[in-house]
Order: sequence, then C-alpha cells, then structure tokens
Amino acid sequence: MSGMAVETEALVKDFGGNRAVDGVDLRVPAGTVYGLLGPNGAGKTTTVKLLATLLRPDAGHARVFGHDVVRDADTVRGRVSLTGQYASVDEDLTGTENLVLLARLLGHTRPAARDRAAQLLDAFGLAEAAGRQVKNYSGGMRRRIDIAASILNTPDLLFLDEPTTGLDPRSRNQVWDIVRAVVAQGTTVLLTTQYLDEADQLASRIAVIDHGKVIAEGTKGELKASVGSGSVHVRLRDAEQRPAAERVLATALRAAVQLDPDPVALTATVNGHGTDLGAAEQAARALAELARAGITVDNFALGQPSLDEVFLALTDRKGPAA
Ligand SMILES: Nc1ncnc2c1ncn2[C@@H]1O[C@H](COP(=O)(O)OP(=O)(O)OP(=O)(O)O)[C@@H](O)[C@H]1O
Ligand SMILES: [Mg+2]
Repeated sequence: MSGMAVETEALVKDFGGNRAVDGVDLRVPAGTVYGLLGPNGAGKTTTVKLLATLLRPDAGHARVFGHDVVRDADTVRGRVSLTGQYASVDEDLTGTENLVLLARLLGHTRPAARDRAAQLLDAFGLAEAAGRQVKNYSGGMRRRIDIAASILNTPDLLFLDEPTTGLDPRSRNQVWDIVRAVVAQGTTVLLTTQYLDEADQLASRIAVIDHGKVIAEGTKGELKASVGSGSVHVRLRDAEQRPAAERVLATALRAAVQLDPDPVALTATVNGHGTDLGAAEQAARALAELARAGITVDNFALGQPSLDEVFLALTDRKGPAA
C-alpha cells in the first residue's frame, strides 16, 4: 500500500481548560510502524482516540487513508482497530470464548469465528491457555489476547496504545514479534509508547510528543542526529593510564567522562559545546590528544546518542515518569 495512513493538520482537543492535543501535525506512511513517543499526560491516548473516531476534535483535521475522521467516521471505523491502554476483553470468559464472541460480533459465522480464534491463540502462544478465564492470565498473556482481539479482522491501521507497559522483558519481546508479524501482513501500526527502546526496536519514524505538541519528528537516525551529540568509548592498553586519559578527554571534549566498570574503559560525551565540529571530528581530535599524552588506546567506538538521550535533550526533564 502506498500513500499516507494518517494525516493530521493542527489537530486540537480540549478537556475543559486543559488542551490535551495542541495543534498536532502528523503524517504516517502506510505499511509502516510509526511511534508516538511521550511521557505521561503528553496527549498520546487522546491523539489516538481522535484518529480512531472515539473523540471529536475541537479544531484541525485528521484523515485516515484519506477519509476525514469526522465527516467519514464510519468509513474510518471500518479500517482501523484499537488495542487500548486499558483493554477490552472480558475477564470472566476464557481466551477462546472472548475471541469467538468478538469474531461473531464482527459478523463471522460460528465455525469461521472458532477457526480464527484458534488460529490467533496458536499464533500468539496462547493455545494452552485458550480454555482458561482471562482473569487468570499473566500480564503478558493478557496483552497478547488484547492484541489478538484487535486483529480478528485484519485492520488496515492498528492503534497500539502502550502495548508493553508493565511487561517483563520476555513478554515485551513476544509482543514486539507480534507487532512485526502484523506489519508484515500489510497493516500500518501507530504505536504509542513511553519506552524509547520500544520505538527504537519497532518504529521506522517517530514523533516525540509533549504537552500536546509534536516537539520532534523523523526517522530514528534523524532524531538522534538532531540532538547533535554522541559518545566516544575508549579502551586503553593499560589501566594505570586511565586517570590521565580521563583528564585529557575531559579537557579535549569539555564534557563529563564516565569510568566504565571495566578498568581500562572510559566513555565521554561528545556534545559540540564550544565548537561547531561534528561529533566524529571532535572525537578524532580527542583521540589525537590521548596519543600526544603518551596514552595507548587499544580501540575506540563512536556511538550515536540513545533515544533516551534524545528524549532528555528534547523535553529537558528527567524523562518519562514510570
Ligand atoms: N476524558 C478526559 N477528560 C479530561 N481530561 C482528560 C481526559 N482524557 C485525557 N485528559 C487529559 O489530557 C491530557 C493528555 O492525556 P492523555 O491520556 O492523552 O496522555 P497520554 O500521553 O496518553 O499519557 P499516558 O502515558 O499517561 O497514558 C492529560 O492532562 C489528561 O489528564
Ligand atoms: Mg495514554
């Protein structure tokens, strides 16, 4: 599929005096995972609800596959599916019962509903738990059944609102695999998350949202590059030279130097302070200073900043709340 799955212009949503979405412009290319990244209260869920026609915008426009979310709300509803932050399956029903019921509501015949339920439970590693009540599922199983419920009919656009919040690393990986599988089948995914590594893992483009506004947008590489910093990791031949190396790097880069647990290793931030040199050039000069001071470097690496660093630089706070 080509074109845009989502386009918004100056989208606004007020709750009383509180402007939850404050002029959001988004363009989500079809067939991709797009990450909407932001801390608690940033306006992620509200944006998703506007796009899913669950809320009406107070100003601006939003189109889903070219259809206006207000004027063509029914058409939009037919093409999207939402896995909410607070999900919708019935706790007292079993996994199978939930999926069959929802498939029946979507118009599948009973045999077709049973087939689709079994197929999804199997694909999501829930076959063994299929006959158990959902209230007895673990958090990870629960999240997987939520996503399964939202793709009973393969939607063109799937909203995943914080699909892995509160999951352990293994369950998060399982959900990530599911997202990748869904996209491989042609569905566009709009993913909201507070986790930078999640956006990094899944999304091809990311919008960083804070206080209802998009404060940065681009590919992961563009976002990292826009912060204009990186870090240089250095390994020395001789641990005794580390204090000297620390002083040289701190002076050359005008930045804090971190001593790694490995006694021969150091990491320094390359932040461009006081210079307009690129990160690579600054790092190269710092390495030359080490050589001049008689310090032997075994190897070094110049890393891009992590998305965490990007987020901190953009929002200028202590990062997303837990
Ligand atoms: N139905 C509502 N009525 C009043 N205020 C609301 C409503 N829904 C959201 N808000 C407010 O709008 C702002 C944005 O909320 P939203 O749920 O979109 O944030 P979020 O980015 O999804 O946060 P989180 O990461 O905590 O889920 C918050 O200040 C919130 O209190
Ligand atoms: Mg939310």
